Amino acid sequence: MLFWRVKPLDKILETAEKKSLKRQLGPIQLTLLGIGAVIGTGIFVLTAEAGQKAGPGMMLAFVIAAIVCALAALAYAELAAMVPVSGSAYTYTYGVLGEFIAWIVGWALGLEYGIGAATVCVGWSGYMNGLLSHADLFGLVQPGALALPEALRTGPFAGGTFNLLAFLIGLAVTVLLVIGTSKSARVNAVLVAIKIVALTMFIAIAFPSVQSTNFEPFLPGGWGSPTGGVGVLGAAASIFFAYVGFDAVSTAAEETKNPNRNIPIGLIGSLVICTIFYLLVGYSAAGSVGAQPMLSAAGVVLDPGSPEMAAACAGSQALVCSKEPLAHVLRLLGHPQLGNWIGAAAILALPSVILMMMFGQTRIFFTMSRDGLLPDVLSKVHPRFFTPHVITILTGAVVAICSAVFPVGKLADTSNSGTLLAFAMVSIGVLILRKQQPDRPRPFRTPMAWIVCPLAVVGCLLLFVNLSPFAKEFFVGWAIVGLVLYRLYGYHRSHLANGRA
Ligand code: ALA
Repeated sequence: MLFWRVKPLDKILETAEKKSLKRQLGPIQLTLLGIGAVIGTGIFVLTAEAGQKAGPGMMLAFVIAAIVCALAALAYAELAAMVPVSGSAYTYTYGVLGEFIAWIVGWALGLEYGIGAATVCVGWSGYMNGLLSHADLFGLVQPGALALPEALRTGPFAGGTFNLLAFLIGLAVTVLLVIGTSKSARVNAVLVAIKIVALTMFIAIAFPSVQSTNFEPFLPGGWGSPTGGVGVLGAAASIFFAYVGFDAVSTAAEETKNPNRNIPIGLIGSLVICTIFYLLVGYSAAGSVGAQPMLSAAGVVLDPGSPEMAAACAGSQALVCSKEPLAHVLRLLGHPQLGNWIGAAAILALPSVILMMMFGQTRIFFTMSRDGLLPDVLSKVHPRFFTPHVITILTGAVVAICSAVFPVGKLADTSNSGTLLAFAMVSIGVLILRKQQPDRPRPFRTPMAWIVCPLAVVGCLLLFVNLSPFAKEFFVGWAIVGLVLYRLYGYHRSHLANGRA
């Protein structure tokens, strides 16, 4: 039953919307698209998480995550260019590995995008709470007068009760998606500029304050542990989140001039630029104020996002404790206003990442519903706004609640578990399709596919094993729910099985 009900690729292309988009994107626009989708909570917030797991060695984590991502990106691009339809990895696997694996991938993508959106909501709330705590509205109020009560700033695992701002931004983005806001290329360019300027300013200020003593010890958490969640590899598994989103480039294959040349330039270009920024930010942050982890009384590295960590961090100025690490570094270095400015940049730019992820989640489940694998009601379109409002509202409610309750690092790891599974499946799919249909036109071919794809699978597995135990357990629970749901519903209702596809 593993590789059954394969939806013929020609059928997928036939049923896809008949839109003939103009090929107008060049390498620069594609690279900007990638950077716009990629830079977000990962670098602005998870730097503290990576520091807690790996100490200054987090820089190695940035490189490892980038390599795995680049390998997967090259595989992803081949299928994306061959099957340029909505639904991304879910649709590709339906056409290559069959319905059962496609269901698993679609279900995993739901985790990637849905929980990913919740992660960015929590990241956004960290900066918003920080700004409210420090802002004086140009002297109109005392600094701190606008701050929310402690209990409403974080969820129960991180020392609070309910993360109110994360919940509210989740709901706000849901409303925007229901009424049909789409991000324009111009808005994207402005947001990319804001992010690049903010990160450049950070590096320009923090880099000159780097002291070599702050890099000792370099690997306080070691390389990792068999249970995952610590060390350089644990940090790489979390910081992988910082690179997610580049698939925005591969899904634009249809609109790209000379995709065989420009797609890899856009993918690798945006990944290289982001990696350089991330390394410089990580180096400057760890080297200027230090990124040593908080330890238990027994000298063990504490689990970030745990009540023990929250207790150890109470009143601490350590980078690894901050919910807005980049703003915090600038404040510690004596630049409170610039700290507020970088916070403002994050507050402006992060909602577009939430929007993109929630959009992705709704479109995946929409496509699965259209294929009969999820109830029809989920692909209902609003009569006035022409958006899939039912799935959007459902997704928005889950995202908002998860972001109000769970800590950012645990959410990021959980989102990554879904992404890593989907990437591994896509990489395997590329090889199977090369064997099964060698002559099918491929606008973009993964270079050295027989080396790149297996390495991508190994890289994804390595990172998956090093995710925090919480994320792996959540993943297993999610997978079981998915399998039961498929057996009880999709298996019988599938349009492909019933000859309706
Ligand atoms: N890469 C995106 C971020 O870090 C998802 O927010």
